[in-house]
Amino acid sequence: MAKGFSKKIATGITMMMVGTAIGLSAMSSYAQPIPKEKQGGKEYLTFQSVCTTCHDASRVQNYSGTLPWPEVITQMRSFGAFVTDDQTKEIEDYLQKTYPR
Ligand code: HEC
Repeated sequence: MAKGFSKKIATGITMMMVGTAIGLSAMSSYAQPIPKEKQGGKEYLTFQSVCTTCHDASRVQNYSGTLPWPEVITQMRSFGAFVTDDQTKEIEDYLQKTYPR
């Protein structure tokens, strides 16, 4: 009786761990980190701090629209993004350099 009970607990714990592992791997495939070679510098940091508050950077990496970056930034402003003129310049430079379009 006691044996069967602890086996049930062990099974429960195993299932919990499997669930966590599946959850973690699903999460990591969803959030794509920016490749190392595309990071670096002040412009990158400005981009990270301004542009990943509402969505993650994969939105930018996977952008397949036709707007040039300055217009995308204008569009984000209309969604409520707060970007100073200096930051806009830095982000434009960064995006143009990193994801030319
Ligand atoms: C205030 C919140 C907010 C901030 C800050 C923000 N965005 Fe967005 N962004 C959005 C929303 C909301 C959408 C989704 C719009 C849609 O699905 O049509 C979006 C979507 C996007 C897309 C995809 C557009 C498309 O048509 O697929 C790109 C690219 C993008 N954002 C770039 C940026 C960049 C670059 C910055 C930094 C300057 C930024 N975002 C900051 C709210 C924000």
